[in-house]
Amino acid sequence: MMEPSAKPQPAAIVIFGASGDLTQRKVVPALFNLFLDGLLPEKFSVIGVARKPMSDDEFRKRLREGVDKFSRRGRAADADWQKFAANFHYRAAAYDDAGAYGSLAEQLTQLDKSWDASATRIFYLATPPSVFETVAGQLGRAGLYKERQRARIVVEKPFGRDLASARSLNKSLGRIFSEPQIYRIDHYLGKETVQNILAFRFANAIFEPIWNRRYIDNVQITVAESIGIENRAHFYERTGALRDMVQNHLLQILCLTAMEPPVAFNADEIRNKTVDVLRAIRPIPREKVREFAVRGQYGEGKIGEKIAPAYRAARDVAPDSATETFAALKLFIDNWRWQGVPFYLRTGKRLAQTVSAVGIQFRPVPHQAISYCSVGDWRQNCLMIHIQPEEDILLSFQAKQPGPIMCVSPVDMRFCYHEAFQTPTPEAYETLLLDVMEGDATLFMRADQVEAAWSVVTPVLESWESERPKDFPNYASGSWGPESADALLAKDNHTWLSPSIGLGAKKADLKS
Ligand code: BG6
Repeated sequence: MMEPSAKPQPAAIVIFGASGDLTQRKVVPALFNLFLDGLLPEKFSVIGVARKPMSDDEFRKRLREGVDKFSRRGRAADADWQKFAANFHYRAAAYDDAGAYGSLAEQLTQLDKSWDASATRIFYLATPPSVFETVAGQLGRAGLYKERQRARIVVEKPFGRDLASARSLNKSLGRIFSEPQIYRIDHYLGKETVQNILAFRFANAIFEPIWNRRYIDNVQITVAESIGIENRAHFYERTGALRDMVQNHLLQILCLTAMEPPVAFNADEIRNKTVDVLRAIRPIPREKVREFAVRGQYGEGKIGEKIAPAYRAARDVAPDSATETFAALKLFIDNWRWQGVPFYLRTGKRLAQTVSAVGIQFRPVPHQAISYCSVGDWRQNCLMIHIQPEEDILLSFQAKQPGPIMCVSPVDMRFCYHEAFQTPTPEAYETLLLDVMEGDATLFMRADQVEAAWSVVTPVLESWESERPKDFPNYASGSWGPESADALLAKDNHTWLSPSIGLGAKKADLKS
């Protein structure tokens, strides 16, 4: 979260895993957009490192293809691209080749000399997690961690696959880099609409007084995707929805929704407050996991007009796979603010719609003085924060229908990003990369946060691993998940709010 009009110091960015998907799809398009917006330092250099032999030109060509395909601005203009790409270089090396790190160190020293500056050095691990420790260890041996003010390491998710492995990775990184040098990415925190949860709550006086158990009945966080697992079977088969989405993205959204007001807007303060939430989450007893957690796997179904095949039919997925592609949890936060308020979380692949939203359902009125003639359509007040693809906030409340009798029905008040600000939204990676250059770790996970988040999901992971699901596949592609997810809420007399509340109304607005 950069200060307006600031421009970062000269920077040398070393991307490990430079020939991979993430570099091409996310990291370099984000850098290019920062460049076009004039937000990159005047002096910057990107050194790509990966095992695959490639010339600088081949590397640049591959990156350009990525930008043309994945950048939010579409195809790059030639002149812009040439200027940008001239700063990119490639080194083919094995990740455990000590010599390669020695010559990398020399290259970085040369850059400093030619710029006459002590450039920020960013080591970005866009590699498979299996080599995180190797690369960090080699950077350590080459002494590249030493200048703590300017050397930073960026670690992609997944950060561990359970509490024990996350702890051990934290320990290994911590032997070389100090905590403020480590930037653990959860790209959801880079999304504008996710950060806006903080602005909404803490830059306004009217919501905070009702943001608690006295007024809020339940909170629902949905991150639904209509895509399947694409070509990621190898990764997904050993990961599943709980590790892939809940341990990180959904729990972070929960933290921002539930945290106490920060005293200041700085990295440690925000992260202290979010870690407090994670620690206050009531542990799910191993033997009661069924009461609090639901898993699912998609079978064949229809998304729009298209037939979508079952998860088990995807290439490289075991025909009897037990991997969950859907997870839902009910959590309680044991503190004064939230005692007794259920937080329902759900995420899944191949669901009916791609939509991420936080729904805050308020308590019903204590006494209904008005006789509701449209009882069927009556709704409790609800605040729906749409994170994506729609970026808006809706408050639904009851209004009197026009006419001689007192009749109420629900209506929506809506704030829409694009209409209010009329500027394009940056991609999460743009925000996050700029923050790393600036040395602002507010939107990155601290070691204790990652571990606390793993602790929350551990009983569920262990229980699911110890018992094969008998009913997989248990939801059709194109549905909202297994019936057991509805039953999870029905037990409490709740139902899932449709995350598309208000979207219908909006379309009608646009037409009129
Ligand atoms: C990633 C997961 O972290 O987030 C993917 O590994 C998922 O499985 C993706 O599709 C969703 O991100 P976004 O930004 O498209 O919502």
